[in-house]
Amino acid sequence: MGRAAVPSGASTGAHEAVELRDGDRNRFGGLGVSRAVSNVNTVIGPRLAGIDCDFEEADSIMIRMDGTKEKKKLGANAILAVSMATARAAAQERGEPLFRYLVPKDRYVLPVPMMNVINGGKHAGNDLAVQEFLIEPVGAKTFGEAVRFGAEVYHVLKQILRKEFGPYAVNVGDEGGYAPPLKLTRDALDVISRAISQSGFSQSDVRLGIDPASSEFYDSEKSVYLVDGRALNAGELEDFYVDLVRTYRLLTLEDPFHEEAFSDFSHLTKKLEGTAMVIGDDIYVTNPDRIRTGIKKRASTAVLIKPNQIGTVTETLEAIKLSQKAGLSTVISHRSGETEDVFIAHLATAVGSQFIKTGAPARGERVSKYNELLRIEEEIGNDAPLNRIGT
Ligand code: PGA
Ligand code: ZN
Repeated sequence: MGRAAVPSGASTGAHEAVELRDGDRNRFGGLGVSRAVSNVNTVIGPRLAGIDCDFEEADSIMIRMDGTKEKKKLGANAILAVSMATARAAAQERGEPLFRYLVPKDRYVLPVPMMNVINGGKHAGNDLAVQEFLIEPVGAKTFGEAVRFGAEVYHVLKQILRKEFGPYAVNVGDEGGYAPPLKLTRDALDVISRAISQSGFSQSDVRLGIDPASSEFYDSEKSVYLVDGRALNAGELEDFYVDLVRTYRLLTLEDPFHEEAFSDFSHLTKKLEGTAMVIGDDIYVTNPDRIRTGIKKRASTAVLIKPNQIGTVTETLEAIKLSQKAGLSTVISHRSGETEDVFIAHLATAVGSQFIKTGAPARGERVSKYNELLRIEEEIGNDAPLNRIGT
């Protein structure tokens, strides 16, 4: 028996696999998934019944059955749910935890959590252009300690925001981070920096990162980015980022440019070499072909991995292996529309991902991943180190 639930994003990349929705305005405003569910029950299910319980085999059958590049016939949401559930059932049949089944090896390393503590962009009802402000407790020794570092900073941040901006400032956005009425990127980074030091941590214990998700504020007609009340071209935006990296010692910068801007990515990656990591999300959409292009162009130092951007566990693992082989780091990631499913906690451990991005240490759908990683840490026992991050 295997069960799985798949997530959904708000700031989706243009090249993601297709999430099949009903479009029937009378149900869930058109967002129902009865067609995807019916594809699982009446199309995929009967075809898979009787095969060996093996996600790779199931995935290749489903990819062939769908027949489209974007999985638009059966729906990537239908296919991925079956793929994940099959992997779980297989692990259960073998009596193994999912992470050990996904990638069997002797030694596992746990991912550093990237916790999104201030939400902006499409994830919040405030004026911040940047979508995510992340704290990264790289100085922690264990995963449990990293969660404690993050939770402590998150709660000190709450006190500061409440005191300075009033009670509405501590309402939360889609990923559990606060959504204060701030306007500028620097305002958010300033207040988080203060929370880190007031919590008693140094700048090397807890680093900072941002995910501007910049396709969302890119004006393609004018080729400018609308950020912090200004309209910046790619060069000016790069200067803006380089300044932020210098002032706040940012460790990670995700989707700094829009999703087709490979050469702007490459330019910034080169410029920040040895200081900060550039992560590609919407530009790659966990798609091995797009990641190959990024590798050739040296477009980033890291790849964000979201299983539902590509639609099967097999292709997700392929994207990860490809990235790792090219020397790129990985960040296994949730979506803004998440469920309580903990698959990505196992995936991040299985592949030895440098990071996992799964929201603030708040709200059940985010905390479920942190709790599962604590259980995984316990199951691994004494030898469960946290990944060491270098730039
Ligand atoms: P999404 O955002 O799930 O809304 O796409 C997450 C991200 O951009 O990393
Ligand atoms: Zn992103």
